[in-house]
Amino acid sequence: MQEPLLALDKVTKTFRRSGGSIVNAVRSVSLDIGPGETVALVGESGSGKSTLGRIALGLLAPDSGRVLLAGRCLGDLSAAALRDARIAMQPIFQDASASLNPRRTVRELLAQALRHHRDSVEQRSVDLLDHVGLRPGTEYLLRFPHELSGGQRQRVAIARALAMEPRLIIADEPLSGADVSIRGQILNLLIDIKEEHRVAYLMITHDISIARAFADRVAVMMQGEIVESGPAEAVLHAPTHPYTKQLVAAVPMLDAPTARDREIGDA
Ligand SMILES: Nc1ncnc2c1ncn2[C@@H]1O[C@H](COP(=O)(O)OP(=O)(O)OP(=O)(O)O)[C@@H](O)[C@H]1O
Ligand SMILES: [Mg+2]
Repeated sequence: MQEPLLALDKVTKTFRRSGGSIVNAVRSVSLDIGPGETVALVGESGSGKSTLGRIALGLLAPDSGRVLLAGRCLGDLSAAALRDARIAMQPIFQDASASLNPRRTVRELLAQALRHHRDSVEQRSVDLLDHVGLRPGTEYLLRFPHELSGGQRQRVAIARALAMEPRLIIADEPLSGADVSIRGQILNLLIDIKEEHRVAYLMITHDISIARAFADRVAVMMQGEIVESGPAEAVLHAPTHPYTKQLVAAVPMLDAPTARDREIGDA
C-alpha cells in the first residue's frame, strides 16, 4: 500500500474548561489520508472535528498519539522542518478574514506566499486570482481584505493556500462564511483544485451534502471518536452506525445536487 500523506495515529486531546471540568475532545483517533485523496470529516457541533484538524495541522499538540506527514512525526521535527511541514499542509478556515492580515493588500498577501519564487511574482499572483475566479486578477491586487465580500475573501484565502503549493489542504467549514448563493461556486472551485492539482483534502464539515459532493472517503465523528469511516458512497448510502444513520436521515440525500449537477447548472 502507498504510504499515507497524513497519518493520525491514536491521537487524543483533553481540554480543561475554566470551571475545571474535563472535555475529551478527541479520543484515540486514527485516520489516514493518501496522496490526492479527499476525506470528509463529518459530525455534529462539538464532536471534536476542529480540534482534530488543528492537531493535524500541527497547530495543537496532542496529549498522546502521533501525527505523521509523509512518514515523519510532527512532534519530532525541528522548528525549521515543522515550518516546511506547515507549508505542505495549508489550512482554509470558515472565516477568511481571520487568516488574512487586514493591513496587507491582496498583492502583498500573495507576494508573501510566493516568496520562494524569484521572478514573475506579480504575474503569478494575477494568474492565481484568475484561477480562483477573481477576474480580472489585476483589479483585485490593490484591495485590502475589508474591501472584499466574504466570498471574495475566501477566494483570496484559497489563492494564498495554492500559492504555497500544498500537498494537503485542511479546510474547516470553508463554505460556512460565504453567502448561501455562492457556496456552490466555492465548492466547485475546491473540486477543480482537487482535480487540477492532485492535492489531498481533509474537508471538515457538518454538511453531509458537501461530503457527498466532495469526498472519496467519509469519517464520522461523535463525541471525540470516529464511529464510522469508509468510501463516501458506502457510508452515506448504507450507513451502519446508528449515529451516521441519524445524520444521513436528516438530509434529503436524493435531492442534494452532486458535484456534477452543480457544474452543469453553472455552465
Ligand atoms: N481551547 C479549548 N478549551 C476548552 N475546551 C475546548 C477548547 N477547544 C475545544 N473545546 C471543546 O472541545 C470539544 C470539541 O470542540 P471542536 O471545536 O473540536 O468541535 P467541532 O466538532 O469542530 O464543533 P463545530 O461543528 O461546532 O465547529 C467541544 O466540547 C469544545 O467545547
Ligand atoms: Mg469546528
